[in-house]
Amino acid sequence: LEKGPLLRDRYGLDIGLVGAADSRGAAYCEAGLDLAQVMRLKQSGDTVARYPDAGRLGWRAAEMVATCDADLLLEASPVNLNAGAEPGLTCVRTALRRGIHVVTPNKGPIVLAYRELHDLAAEQGVELRYDGAVAGGLPALYLVRRDLRGARIHRIEAVPNLVTGYVMDLLADGVAWEETLARAHQEGVLEEDPSWDLEGWDAAAKLVILVNSVLDARAGRQHLVQLEDVARTGITGLEPETLRSARAQGMRYRLLAKAECRADGSYRLSVLPEPLLPEHPLGRLGRKQMGVVFSTDIYGTIAAIIDEPDPMPSAASMLRDLLDIMA
Ligand SMILES: NC(=O)c1ccc[n+]([C@@H]2O[C@H](COP(=O)([O-])OP(=O)(O)OC[C@H]3O[C@@H](n4cnc5c(N)ncnc54)[C@H](OP(=O)(O)O)[C@@H]3O)[C@@H](O)[C@H]2O)c1
Repeated sequence: LEKGPLLRDRYGLDIGLVGAADSRGAAYCEAGLDLAQVMRLKQSGDTVARYPDAGRLGWRAAEMVATCDADLLLEASPVNLNAGAEPGLTCVRTALRRGIHVVTPNKGPIVLAYRELHDLAAEQGVELRYDGAVAGGLPALYLVRRDLRGARIHRIEAVPNLVTGYVMDLLADGVAWEETLARAHQEGVLEEDPSWDLEGWDAAAKLVILVNSVLDARAGRQHLVQLEDVARTGITGLEPETLRSARAQGMRYRLLAKAECRADGSYRLSVLPEPLLPEHPLGRLGRKQMGVVFSTDIYGTIAAIIDEPDPMPSAASMLRDLLDIMA
């Protein structure tokens, strides 16, 4: 709604929403849905299934994607890796099979079915983009694919998960665990299942996507990695005293996701809470910041950081992907 006029003026793009789905149903209208109306429904806690005339309660997202006429799918359902990344995976797969471009910040389908989905997109001649799946609004994948072309990446260090930094900072401030988690929930930075963030699964999934993108671009996709390849330690076992003492020594704990290139071109992957000195490119990250550092052979060391006080930059990453495909 906000960007419509700019997209028309700058790119000559007039984007119409023909379908929308949520957990209770879906709405589809070939002539287009009114975005403001869809927003009003969601903001009032209602469902798009109650969109006048076009909405149907109980109509599943995947069913709509299987039958609708559209150019591009924006898929943003929960990760649900414990449930086969559904309904995201089926929606993404179905759209690609039907020759519909896909943009998703949802890690689930990309982690579980990286190769299958990329092959499908290539077969159908459509794009599959997921820049928001790595570090919210930070354009980490664009950096890899475009700006690090021709490089060997020796090492990747990333703080791709916002909530663990937020939690560790509050604990170091002396706030109790329960209160810290309550605040994280309140601010909407914690996923519904807190263990996804706190046990390092989220950071591990993002690392896998990042490394596979590097390998895909560089090594002909031969050694793609999986979640099981990541040596993972979360932050739940950390003593607040450890965090406080690190801070007293001028250091800041962050859940660091690392990939180190071995001689054979494969990567050693880990996720581990580590105390970082202020000199480290990620050592000064604030409470709502994420970052990534690439150490390369020819481009030196490149660090990128994002300040993400609310989820807007993550949501906006979908617009960036959409424009890269359509504009
Ligand atoms: N929030 C962020 O900062 C951020 C950053 C990067 C990536 N992401 C990723 O983006 C995705 C969405 O995140 P979010 O924070 O927007 O999550 P969210 O607030 O929980 O929204 C999830 C949406 O998915 C819908 N949904 C749930 N189950 C569904 C089903 N079975 N069929 C159809 N729709 C279903 C929900 O419907 P209802 O409205 O009916 O509940 C809701 O609209 C996730 O994969 C997340 O990992 C989020």
